[in-house]
Amino acid sequence: MWIKLFLFAVVAFIAYQFSDIFDPDILEGKRVVLTGASTGIGEQMAYHYASHKANLLITARRENLLKKVINHCKTVGEPNGIYSYITADMSNMSSTEMVIKEAVAKMGGIDYLVLNHIKEISLGEWSGSSDNLTMLSNLFDINFKAYVHLASYALPLLEKSGGSIIVVSSIAGKFAQPYVSAYSATKFALDGFFSGLRLELELKKCDVSITLCVIGLVGTDNAVSKLKEFERGNILDIVKPALPEDAAMAIIKGGALRKREIYFPYFSAKAITVSRDLFPNLLEKFMKYIYH
Ligand SMILES: *[C@@H]1O[C@H](CO)[C@@H](O)[C@H](O)[C@H]1NC(C)=O
Ligand SMILES: *[C@@H]1O[C@H](CO)[C@@H](O)[C@H](O)[C@H]1NC(C)=O
Repeated sequence: MWIKLFLFAVVAFIAYQFSDIFDPDILEGKRVVLTGASTGIGEQMAYHYASHKANLLITARRENLLKKVINHCKTVGEPNGIYSYITADMSNMSSTEMVIKEAVAKMGGIDYLVLNHIKEISLGEWSGSSDNLTMLSNLFDINFKAYVHLASYALPLLEKSGGSIIVVSSIAGKFAQPYVSAYSATKFALDGFFSGLRLELELKKCDVSITLCVIGLVGTDNAVSKLKEFERGNILDIVKPALPEDAAMAIIKGGALRKREIYFPYFSAKAITVSRDLFPNLLEKFMKYIYH
């Protein structure tokens, strides 16, 4: 009897996780601000949003790449859609404000703020060198502080539209990984800040959702080249990376459905997160094995 009930609960839970009630029309005419949009998952998100008829302001540092992404958005998007870009360096906090002002100028407001940029880092041992410490402070500016600044400037606009903040994080923000400890710390910080902010918004009945995206290994050019550069290309044989376009769609759906968290790829990212509390020693053994 109890076993049956338990199995029923497990099946119902899994069915709920996979229930695809995403209505693609929900994005039509929505105003999206997307950071880190020049390559990888961000670039794919731009194409998905455009093909679902959303308007877009994308940002990154490299103008030539942004222009290319915008041109492709125009070919997959609506003839009268708004597809614009602004170059911005997320280590400079005044550019975060500039991005939000540009969104008002171009689109008149914001429905989705998609925080996705990261500082490119190389995997490496933490030796405590002054290089490491400088990198840490720069990493926190870009991967954490800029997220908080962008969300802060956008919040009044999102309140007005009943909008959403989508925070793209990583499995490294739920379970620490070796050789990226500073990066991992910035991702844990995002969970801490935005989970707290989500509760504050709910307590004051503010209709802005926050979706934290826990993303596992995705085969972006950047992720693959960094692993190879660090001679850990073997990880790609042990853990098959997911496709950037699938990760992008999972993030967009999670945000549109106003979920509090999404895990992608679901089973591996969720299993690692849950195992962290249930069997930490076993999980760390596995990590040491794949990084050995
Ligand atoms: C930071 O951004 C602002 C606004 O775009 C710009 O005026 C300023 O020169 C930038 N500062 C640095 C150090 O790049
Ligand atoms: C820390 O600094 C050392 C020496 O400069 C360097 O070899 C190592 O790659 C750095 N670690 C990270 C994570 O950047």
